[in-house]
Amino acid sequence: MGKLVALILLGAGLALVWERFLTLGERLNAHREVESVEPQNCRLIEGIENGSEDIDILPSGLAFISNGLKYSGMPDLAPDEPGRIFLMDLNEQNPRVQELNISGGFDKASFNPHGMSTFIDKDQSVYLYVVNHPHMDSTVEIFKFEEQQRSLVYLKTIKHKLLKSVNDIVVLGPEQFYATRDHYFTNFLALFEFVMDLRWTHVLFYSPREVKVVASGFSSANGITISLDKKYIYVADVSDKNIHVMKIQDNWDLTELKVIQLDTLVDNLTADPDTGDILAGCHPNAIKLLMYNTEDPPGSEVLRIRNALSEKPVISTMYANNGSVLQGSSVASTYGGKLLIGTVFHKALYCEL
Ligand SMILES: *[C@@H]1O[C@H](CO)[C@@H](O)[C@H](O)[C@H]1NC(C)=O
Repeated sequence: MGKLVALILLGAGLALVWERFLTLGERLNAHREVESVEPQNCRLIEGIENGSEDIDILPSGLAFISNGLKYSGMPDLAPDEPGRIFLMDLNEQNPRVQELNISGGFDKASFNPHGMSTFIDKDQSVYLYVVNHPHMDSTVEIFKFEEQQRSLVYLKTIKHKLLKSVNDIVVLGPEQFYATRDHYFTNFLALFEFVMDLRWTHVLFYSPREVKVVASGFSSANGITISLDKKYIYVADVSDKNIHVMKIQDNWDLTELKVIQLDTLVDNLTADPDTGDILAGCHPNAIKLLMYNTEDPPGSEVLRIRNALSEKPVISTMYANNGSVLQGSSVASTYGGKLLIGTVFHKALYCEL
């Protein structure tokens, strides 16, 4: 009797795995091709050839661009080069990037920068928080930005047992942030979750006094950003192809208001500083990203989501390309009519809108 039950359970389990497996192609948009939407005045940014995973623009128009991410399962076009942070001044006529020098005893050789977030304190000092994966570990590095010297001074590293496999962060105050946590660095677990369509990833709140899970149930929580009024958090669930709109509670817990469903794998999010619209860097077809083929490369797609809090958010395409120009867009950020689009491992694009 026991054996029969075990066999039935095994059969049911295998059938479930198979059924989930069959929907994988659809969930990864295996057959989706993009139709080109390309603003007139766009150019690739000279000097960025191997990734521009995250981009964060200060209210003054200075943009930080993280470069050289080494992430399991993603192509790496310069495996021997450590990660770098570039600066671009969007107030210039013809802006160019400049690598930021990092001082203060930071281990640059193992720098593997991922998500970033800036924080400006009451004295107008600027701090850059960077998710780092030295030797495939996860830490959050805090740097002070010295504008005159165009450099970053390393201040400290935050590590915590809950801050594992961190993807992106959004800073709320001094040493206080939300972080998304996926299971990317435990490949097998990530694959299992993906195939089985499980929702085991979450958002953490970190402060020196308290670290806790504030939202869970994401298939793969990825990009995170805050609304201009600092009342809402937007979380991109990349494998569920949607954006969760969440309200910040007094105790920093997040409660879900709504989910905006899209037909593209949403990576990083930013808020347009002029309108509050969400800009989403997306992967239209994840199979092309995961099975990288230079003959048929992954494309890029940037969506603008207006009125995210309303009944009917309005979604429009700001940029789309089949990979002939830009591959694997992960983030888009705007400032004063200019648009920067970053990628997981490829180049970066600058557009005047
Ligand atoms: C991508 O689009 C360009 C034209 O915009 C076209 O020449 C090229 O063949 C397309 N590439 C693929 C792989 O479809």
